[in-house]
Amino acid sequence: MKKTTLLAAAVALAVSGPLYAGEKIFKTKCFVCHGTGAAGAPKVGDKKAWAPRIAKGIDTLLKHAKNGYNAMPPKGTCMECSDEDLKSTIEYMISKSK
Ligand code: HEC
Repeated sequence: MKKTTLLAAAVALAVSGPLYAGEKIFKTKCFVCHGTGAAGAPKVGDKKAWAPRIAKGIDTLLKHAKNGYNAMPPKGTCMECSDEDLKSTIEYMISKSK
């Protein structure tokens, strides 16, 4: 029984990698705009809105997310986010939008 519990805990840890962090950041920081389309933000899940952005490549998207881009605020208001955090968040947003 104990072994099973440990194994379950190990599996849970393994899946809560960067993707999970990205999802959490998205829901707490980016959803206000990217979940609703507020301020003209490309909505997550809107394939048409994301296709031309995905085509720019992750490096450009990360740069824009970090420095701000038109109505997109620098770091998407997640001031405590590292580049790695922003990248995993963008990867999460992309994965839901293609
Ligand atoms: C205040 C609203 C707002 C918040 C909060 C916000 N965004 Fe945005 N975001 C925008 C808008 C508006 C655009 C579209 C900018 C444009 O293309 O003119 C955008 C565009 C983007 C793009 C595409 C940039 C490009 O080059 O096309 C990425 C990536 C992005 N946001 C990531 C994020 C992430 C990650 C977060 C959370 C950490 C976040 N945004 C939070 C408003 C927001």
